[in-house]
Amino acid sequence: MQVYLETYGCQMNEYDSELVRTILHDGSFRMTPTLDDADVVLLNTCAIRESAHDRIYGRLGHLRALKQRNPRLIVGLLGCMAQNLKQELLATHPVIDLVAGPDSYKRLPRLIHAVCDSGNKGLEIDLSEYETYADVFPTRAPGVNAWIACMRGCDNFCTFCVVPYTRGRERSREPESIVTEARRLAEAGTKQVTLLGQNVNSYRFEATDFAALLLRVAEVDGIERIRFTSPHPKDFPRPLLQAIRSHPKLCKHIHLPLQAGDDVVLERMRRTYSQREFLDLVDEIRDTIPGVSLSTDVICGFPGEDDAAFAATEAVMSRVQFDSAFIFKYSERRNTIAQRKYADDVAETVKTERVVRLNALQKEISGSRNRRHIGSTVDVLLEGPSRKNAADLLGRDDGNRCVVVPGTGLDVGSTIPVQIVAASAHTLIGQPLAAMPRSTS
Ligand code: 5AD
Ligand code: SF4
Repeated sequence: MQVYLETYGCQMNEYDSELVRTILHDGSFRMTPTLDDADVVLLNTCAIRESAHDRIYGRLGHLRALKQRNPRLIVGLLGCMAQNLKQELLATHPVIDLVAGPDSYKRLPRLIHAVCDSGNKGLEIDLSEYETYADVFPTRAPGVNAWIACMRGCDNFCTFCVVPYTRGRERSREPESIVTEARRLAEAGTKQVTLLGQNVNSYRFEATDFAALLLRVAEVDGIERIRFTSPHPKDFPRPLLQAIRSHPKLCKHIHLPLQAGDDVVLERMRRTYSQREFLDLVDEIRDTIPGVSLSTDVICGFPGEDDAAFAATEAVMSRVQFDSAFIFKYSERRNTIAQRKYADDVAETVKTERVVRLNALQKEISGSRNRRHIGSTVDVLLEGPSRKNAADLLGRDDGNRCVVVPGTGLDVGSTIPVQIVAASAHTLIGQPLAAMPRSTS
């Protein structure tokens, strides 16, 4: 059977799709890159905001038309939206034949066969306290970058967030399995790995904490850069800061989700830190790791966010001067604590206005922070052709800033010293200093 797999949502979902491809590599399935050739279409879905659900509903409309032409087509939903809505999806959308949540992928081959053979609908939505897929090593197209999941699930229960319900309890994957995956990637030519988890600072497997895990991955020859996402600002492990400061392979970039700047909103979000604590942590990070770059996530229009509370978020963003920020409108998620406890009382127009304001503020800040690099020399890992102009290469510096480099004679996968000659809010433009690629390892 030919399987077409489409991925929505975050990097963890991208990683999970790689797991699914591997799990389906059992002789009876073959992946196809074209929807029209498919016997089975799988959508690996996201549930983080309603817009993620809406995209899938739109896609299902298209698949319904396809299925009218080919009634034998099997349509399956995987991932967070599948886990979130479960049976309801099968009841409301007859086009869907099977639903499988993030902890059920090992049962997917059996499930697809059962649905095909019986013509019945299939549902696999049990969440597990143990499944880490530590014994499944994704087969992926070789590339400069790769994700490695080091944890699954989340126990934080931020009141706005659906993830604890869609990905279940937090569990850490054994370090040996993570290091083996990094080693295999290095052998295939990968230079940069990003360790993924919903809350990496609580990573622990027996005696190995997250800093120790990073240092173990850093021992893998051939892996030149290591990134991770995301830590939680509460209980930020200090040994992690020391490790980033002192190990050249650990990139000097931290994604530190702020979510809101007002103490009352932070408490209602159950973030368990105050504005002061967040600002103190930022100061400590900057004191420990000179030149570190910081990015963040912010939610606008959480229940009860009045003008003064929003102003507090603006003030924190102005004060911290993040290098970049992802800014979202609050989207109420069913069954979350916020949905049960608070009315979604900020008008849509006000949410939009606030998102626009924060994006404008951040654009200014990102532009001015990026312009400070003009004239300096940075090491850039070249990742591939630039989207705007295929003659240019796109890479990133240690701080995760995108750098466009005129491409002639340069190898993707090499790290080269580049002088920054121009900058905008999103990109730096660089000139290679030497023709010879230089490796950082
Ligand atoms: N509404 C809007 N944004 C959300 N996020 C998580 N849940 C919601 C929600 N219900 C944002 C947070 C998180 C990022 C991945 O998505 O900012 O850090
Ligand atoms: Fe990723 Fe969260 Fe979306 Fe799931 S709900 S795919 S964990 S962003």
